[in-house]
Amino acid sequence: MVNTVFVLNGPNLNLLGTREPEIYGHDTLDDIAGQLEDRARELDLTIDMRQSNHEGHLVDWLHEAQAYDARAVLLNAGAFTHTSIALYDAIKAVKTPVIEVHLSNPHVREDFRHVSYVGRAARGTIAGFGALSYLLALEAAARI
Ligand code: DQA
Repeated sequence: MVNTVFVLNGPNLNLLGTREPEIYGHDTLDDIAGQLEDRARELDLTIDMRQSNHEGHLVDWLHEAQAYDARAVLLNAGAFTHTSIALYDAIKAVKTPVIEVHLSNPHVREDFRHVSYVGRAARGTIAGFGALSYLLALEAAARI
């Protein structure tokens, strides 16, 4: 196993920083990547951070994480969380542990966010702590 953690981000997360900051905060995805890289260095891990607005890219990257023998995947699938059976199947299909991550807490938001196909297949979920959710997920990835 390599000491790399894939951090996969889904649709609209490229707009973090300006996208509904009252919900998602002011950190950009690059800011979050920087925070993760700093902590990863202390944990002797490497981060491979990616973002796509296309569902199939996330499926391909989950397969790639397994092929690469990555330590874990942190997955914020954005709205695909609530719709994607393809992501559910991909998480089930790979042995790499997948940790579901959300900036907001979907359970206190609209009803359509209360279902998570990702969460039904993931090893665990961290949600509701803004950018800190990613760092807490990295701590989990370092220990599992
Ligand atoms: C999100 C929550 C999702 O419901 C939403 O569609 C997102 C962001 C979060 O990080 O809080 O795009 O995954």
